[in-house]
Amino acid sequence: MGKELILNAFAITSPAHLSPGLWRHPRNKTTKYKTLKFWTNLAQLLDKANFHALFIADVLGPYDVYKGPANAGPALPSGAQFPINDPLYAVPAMAAATKNLTFGVTASTTYDAPYALARRFSTVDHLAEGRVAWNIVTSYLDSAARNFGLDTQIEHDERYRIADEYMDVVYKLWEGSWRDDAVVEDEKTGQYAVPERVRQIHHKGKYFKVPGPHLCEPSLQRTPFLFQAGTSAAGKEFGAKHAEAIFVGAQHPEQLRPNVDAIRKLAKEKYGRDPSHIKIVAGITLIAAETDEAAKKKHDELLSYGDKEGALALFGGWTGIDLSSYSEDEDFRFVELPKGAQSMVNRWASTVPGSDNLPWNKARIAEFLILGGMQAKIVGSGKTIVDELERWVEIAGIDGFNLAHIVNPGSFEDIIEFVIPELQKRGLFRKGVEKEGATAREAYLGSPWLLDDHYGHKFRWAAGEELPPYAKDEAELQKEAK
Ligand SMILES: Cc1cc2nc3c(=O)[nH]c(=O)nc-3n(C[C@H](O)[C@H](O)[C@H](O)COP(=O)(O)O)c2cc1C
Repeated sequence: MGKELILNAFAITSPAHLSPGLWRHPRNKTTKYKTLKFWTNLAQLLDKANFHALFIADVLGPYDVYKGPANAGPALPSGAQFPINDPLYAVPAMAAATKNLTFGVTASTTYDAPYALARRFSTVDHLAEGRVAWNIVTSYLDSAARNFGLDTQIEHDERYRIADEYMDVVYKLWEGSWRDDAVVEDEKTGQYAVPERVRQIHHKGKYFKVPGPHLCEPSLQRTPFLFQAGTSAAGKEFGAKHAEAIFVGAQHPEQLRPNVDAIRKLAKEKYGRDPSHIKIVAGITLIAAETDEAAKKKHDELLSYGDKEGALALFGGWTGIDLSSYSEDEDFRFVELPKGAQSMVNRWASTVPGSDNLPWNKARIAEFLILGGMQAKIVGSGKTIVDELERWVEIAGIDGFNLAHIVNPGSFEDIIEFVIPELQKRGLFRKGVEKEGATAREAYLGSPWLLDDHYGHKFRWAAGEELPPYAKDEAELQKEAK
């Protein structure tokens, strides 16, 4: 029997996430993404099946590179991540409708001010009684940059340097502005909170100036559970230092292993963390049915609803490459594309049997992306899928999966009907929870607060301490500087 896996469901507050055009499918309810009922129904479905989290992706601009520049038109018929609502607002309603499911919400360190983000997450973590995680992203769309007043995106590694200081600001607000025992609600003394136990943070760095104090009293987790998904060198570095769980992706588990090892090694050697304190989950798309044959049929039927223009719009946003300037029959395995996109197409081709005889032109790229985007796909019966998932876990050394949908809730219903029972039979997935109403961090790591070996731990102001440890260190440094 293997170890129990983490399973997250991956969604977005938009008609289409990674399957453009599928909003028309009878088992897809995503046109209702703007209603609370859609979200509370989904949350209840996942909670009952013991999923660990619902993860909600987010982008802050349309995918407007294809047939561009700045043309959001091709994304619209397919609903490809546009229109898109803010993911945070439905979380308290979903929390109220469920017992144990946790909620991962994407928010950007490039476009959100840390003072405001810290307040929003504290608020929702209070309302959700600690069941909130933050998917920390630095964002990748030029369309977002333009709408936040920039001509183009801030350079990639610079975004991560900003994000690193950003984390200092939010740790200071979440962990170090209010002492554990600041709120006393003492009717005798007439004190809701004790003034000496709430402090300004006086943050003054290269990118941010935030005096504090934090507007919210500490929520159950203080810092929401931290997810991240960087794959570049700077992204891995950031994840190894700050993330408590990391999303990774690849077409084959063999491709994933070096990334997983690199993250754990960095975490251990550079940041002194126990590598098992970072949970690594792989993004994957499952098409499940009663038999392999039925799953293959389901795959073809789903594909018939796909929208190729929408897929090419997504490709444009992810890569920054506008394929409309190439002819219909160009085979992109052999065309030099910027930013490593040619080798990416070759990796995709390597997953499709018979690719040697097929041109990888625009139509094929679109077809490849229509069901689940760039994520690896497994099509089959519960047994076939679980055999493959086991192989992924073994080869890649991961802790679980982030399961995308093609139709929502249809794909999750199929996973619950065909995949989860097989996982449970093999002891690979929980049948209940260890602790009712656990916070997100307890569900993943068994601890309510940042673990002792996490970088953010030194910011925490514990009961009885004159100052949080980081502030004492800072005071020393300032004295030395004088
Ligand atoms: C499973 C998964 C989910 C992601 N979700 C988002 C998202 O919702 N919003 C976003 O801006 N980026 C998202 N990303 C992109 C990452 O934040 C990151 O930009 C990407 O993995 C490239 O890594 P790099 O930033 O280190 O180059 C996601 C990546 C993965 C693998």
